[in-house]
Amino acid sequence: MTSTEETLSNLLKEDRRFEPPKELAAEANLKEEAYARADSDREAFWAEQAERLHWDTKWDQVLDWSNPPFAKWFVGGTLNAAYNCLDRHVEAGLGDRVALHWVGEPEGDSRSVTYAELKDEVCRAANALTALGVEKGDRVAIYMPMILETVVAMLACARIGAPHTVVFGGFSSDALATRVVDCGVKVIITADGGYRRGSASALKPAVDEARAKCQDRDGHIVEKVLVVRRTGQDVDWDGPETGGPDVWWHDVVEQASTEHECEFFDSEHPLYVMYTSGSTGKPKGILHTTGGYLTGAAYTHWAVFDLKPETDVYWCTADVGWVTGHSYLVYGPLANATTGVIYEGTPDTPEKGRWWKIVQDHKVSIFYTAPTAIRSFMKQGHEIPDRYDMSSLRVLGSVGEPINPEAYVWYRHVIGGDRTPVVDTWWQTETGAIMISPLPGVTHGKPGSAMIPIPGVSADVVTEEGESVPNGSGGYLVLTEPWPSMLRTIWGDDDRFRDTYWSKYRKEGWYFAGDGAKKDEDGDLWVLGRVDDVMNVSGHRLSTTEIESALVSHPKVAEAAVVGAKDEDTGQAVVAFVILRDEAGDGGEDIVADLRQHVRKEIGPIATPRQIMIVPELPKTRSGKIMRRLLKDVAENREVGDVTTLADSSVMDLISDGINAGKAED
Ligand code: PRX
Repeated sequence: MTSTEETLSNLLKEDRRFEPPKELAAEANLKEEAYARADSDREAFWAEQAERLHWDTKWDQVLDWSNPPFAKWFVGGTLNAAYNCLDRHVEAGLGDRVALHWVGEPEGDSRSVTYAELKDEVCRAANALTALGVEKGDRVAIYMPMILETVVAMLACARIGAPHTVVFGGFSSDALATRVVDCGVKVIITADGGYRRGSASALKPAVDEARAKCQDRDGHIVEKVLVVRRTGQDVDWDGPETGGPDVWWHDVVEQASTEHECEFFDSEHPLYVMYTSGSTGKPKGILHTTGGYLTGAAYTHWAVFDLKPETDVYWCTADVGWVTGHSYLVYGPLANATTGVIYEGTPDTPEKGRWWKIVQDHKVSIFYTAPTAIRSFMKQGHEIPDRYDMSSLRVLGSVGEPINPEAYVWYRHVIGGDRTPVVDTWWQTETGAIMISPLPGVTHGKPGSAMIPIPGVSADVVTEEGESVPNGSGGYLVLTEPWPSMLRTIWGDDDRFRDTYWSKYRKEGWYFAGDGAKKDEDGDLWVLGRVDDVMNVSGHRLSTTEIESALVSHPKVAEAAVVGAKDEDTGQAVVAFVILRDEAGDGGEDIVADLRQHVRKEIGPIATPRQIMIVPELPKTRSGKIMRRLLKDVAENREVGDVTTLADSSVMDLISDGINAGKAED
């Protein structure tokens, strides 16, 4: 049995069902009728959703799909994303509503900002960025901890029409440099550091290194580095006095004016680029534009979480370095005038109940997190969450990877007190917003299933040949109609955009998501995970090639193959098979530790292999392609599958021998 089949048969044993709570259903933002309404006239439905926003000039065409796969939504319309997230709420008399309760990791370090205050800060930052020379269309990289200034920086960029690219603060200087060069970044916004696991963790040194690499390796000059003081730790400083680019945030933003007249941009003006892993080593810069993206983020946030902005307190635990942090921490919630929570640190600092204390203190009513986090809490037991009053919660969400039924039920029971629906939301960096999910007031919950596409979205599970599979069968997940928050291209690479997502089902004009899925007997969808060389570790996408390249860049490594192996905590874990160079001998005692450290440095801690196996050979087909399927069998402790297509079938014996020898040494 392959691991996918195994997952499937486990999932299909699941027959627990949870009806929507009656009161929630009665007052639900979206009712059952929305599905049929959206189906009967999809464009009219999306136009209705776009009316949630303020348009300075209204569009004259909802969708231009005359040149697929290059879509234009709300053609001719103009808007400003920051104005939509802030000014219009202040103008509507909501200036005193809290936009964000920020909770720093050190206890007691917190700050709540109202919509009026956030608007003023964003205007100041917009003025400061303009003074630093940032103009409409220039790209700005944001490499920050989870602090309010990060949100301010994103919205300030949006306000002046400078697309931002937020790079996760846990990524290495190399990863940052690659993105800065690919995106042609002019200015980097960063901080001295942030608090994680009880201590200050530096960011500025990685920016200094990245800047040097960009210049030395690619001749790319970053003109300015704007630095927020968060931790107060010492930083190397190369300011204007020494001809350098460094500028303190507090020197330029705090003094700037809160008056800022915003410009309204074309609906298709680029809003941001978010890098994500593909099946080749080079990360893809996913481009999202303004009108369609904001429509998708605002609509789905309102519909899927049944948001009541007057009374709800909403917390999404994702880092802003990922797309979830963009759509469901910043753009969706703020466009909907939500009161949100943003937390800087790790879930177990200073104690294991930190998250639940935040829920209790802020009376969080909607909570959105990832299965990997839920599983780690499950392990600690219910005693910790049981200590807190979480009766304010009314809707729970899950995102990033398939949620196993046990984790779903635990989440609903222990965190949600059996009152709360759980919405298992399937989407991707590329889709910009939730595509497949239950609606909490309409759909009954089935642990492990993301259920059906939300109103406005059209998806199917199809065979290799593009035929819709019958209920009870599996295949490839596709989106069969364009949607407003769809990616517009891969930054600077239209061909790769076309090839990656639109060539598999070119004839049908469908978007290929890269995921396998199954329709159950009721026609509900179960997303099973990636079908390409992409792994999902703790809900984060990593490409096998990216990690292989990092390993091969180590002087002792000749060749490497990486697979994602099933892991109880992180969903999948990185397992690497490495052939050493002859001159490296056995690599020395610390070789495995050295290589793990090397990957951390090259990509970031998230990519660190759980296991590295030093092997004499790798299994390859006659054409030289590594058969990762066989390595996955080894990594998951299964009997190795069919080896007949191997160029040399004794290789697997060599690998097993090598591994067994390794085990003996352990
Ligand atoms: O494989 C799917 C998985 O995560 C991938 C998208 O990853 P990324 O672009 O990093 O975005 C993560 C946050 C949206 C998908 O192709 N995935 C995401 N959500 C789910 C999921 N798999 C199963 N169920 C989900 N709810």
